[in-house]
Amino acid sequence: MASSWSWTASFFVTAGLVAACLVGIAVDASRAFYVFGDSLVDNGNNNFLVTPARADSPPYGIDYPTHMPTGRFSNGLNIPDIISEHIGGESTLPYLSPELTGSRLLNGANFASAGVGILNDTGVQFANIIRIPRQFAYFRQYKQRLSGLVGDEEAAKIVKNALVLITLGGNDFVNNYYLLPFSARSRQFSLPDYVTYLISEYEKILVSLHELGARRILVTGTGPLGCVPAMLAMRRSQEGNCDVELQRAVSLFNPQLFDVINALNTRYNSQTFIAANAFQMHMDFITNPRAYGFETTKVACCGQGPYNGVGLCTFASNLCNDRDTYFFWDAFHPSEKASRIIVKQLFAGSTDYMHPMNLSTVMELDSRL
Ligand SMILES: *[C@@H]1O[C@H](CO)[C@@H](O)[C@H](O)[C@H]1NC(C)=O
Ligand SMILES: *[C@@H]1O[C@H](CO)[C@@H](O)[C@H](O)[C@H]1NC(C)=O
Repeated sequence: MASSWSWTASFFVTAGLVAACLVGIAVDASRAFYVFGDSLVDNGNNNFLVTPARADSPPYGIDYPTHMPTGRFSNGLNIPDIISEHIGGESTLPYLSPELTGSRLLNGANFASAGVGILNDTGVQFANIIRIPRQFAYFRQYKQRLSGLVGDEEAAKIVKNALVLITLGGNDFVNNYYLLPFSARSRQFSLPDYVTYLISEYEKILVSLHELGARRILVTGTGPLGCVPAMLAMRRSQEGNCDVELQRAVSLFNPQLFDVINALNTRYNSQTFIAANAFQMHMDFITNPRAYGFETTKVACCGQGPYNGVGLCTFASNLCNDRDTYFFWDAFHPSEKASRIIVKQLFAGSTDYMHPMNLSTVMELDSRL
């Protein structure tokens, strides 16, 4: 209400004040956005850490507005950036960025860190990454800083009305269970038991997010890990066929995550948790790449070895010319083009992709509050 009043009033004041009011409206109009999880959604936190899990050198960022690497694992924008575009806000800053101060806190923050998983022992080889308990500790600190800016009551309201994205799970397979032929976790657990354990730990993470005050939480399942260029190369795929074992892992994981999301919504008698079927979205691209404008969904744009899936994307790697025709930018991460199509599905997808509803419906419902 305050913003529509200032909008009307602004017609009667000087041009300088009009501009000031418009800035006020812009802050009011977009909701805060918080991001947790791994490299699929990290937009630069790892640049501030001592870890090999980083995307801070060319050609990362080649299609970013600055054409410079930013820490995003993309040729340009990534999924959270494009979600921000849709909800009418600026991209959220990495929480560790020194630029995240003052009124910028109102826009939200990104706490994600490349290499992390559901489990604390996932990504140990990446040393100082921000594992989930630490991402949440930073979020608590963020909430205090926000309270300092706008007061406790308003801060709680901003968090409650915010959109939250969490993306986890892939690394618990590729950078833990399947990292080595006889990994500790694979000796400890059969695959079905490991998935049950992961899901029980993920449930605790989702409950924590709810306890921290979040009320609109988009949870992406895990994509078809057996089809990413890194796994096609590592597991010696013939003719680009997806690895059967990793696909089995994902086919156990996603339905159980979906069940947890439904159970939590029932427990809280709400539609707090929104499940995105990343697996199905990605399989559609693989089944019919040309329908989406992709020449290939098997070969990474940047990399080397079979499927450009071996090692890291660096200045010495093969680099494709037309990034928009590659689903994968590097051995694990989608191109900006692919991310745009995924975000379109998040907002407009049918209930086969988005459960209990897509983000357009969420935005519409929440705008009536
Ligand atoms: C992960 O670490 C946090 C604290 O560092 C701890 O509270 C939590 O129980 C750990 N999770 C598991 C599954 O061990
Ligand atoms: C979103 O979901 C609703 C309900 O399933 C559907 O009617 C609508 O077409 C979807 N897309 C948009 C843009 O709302």
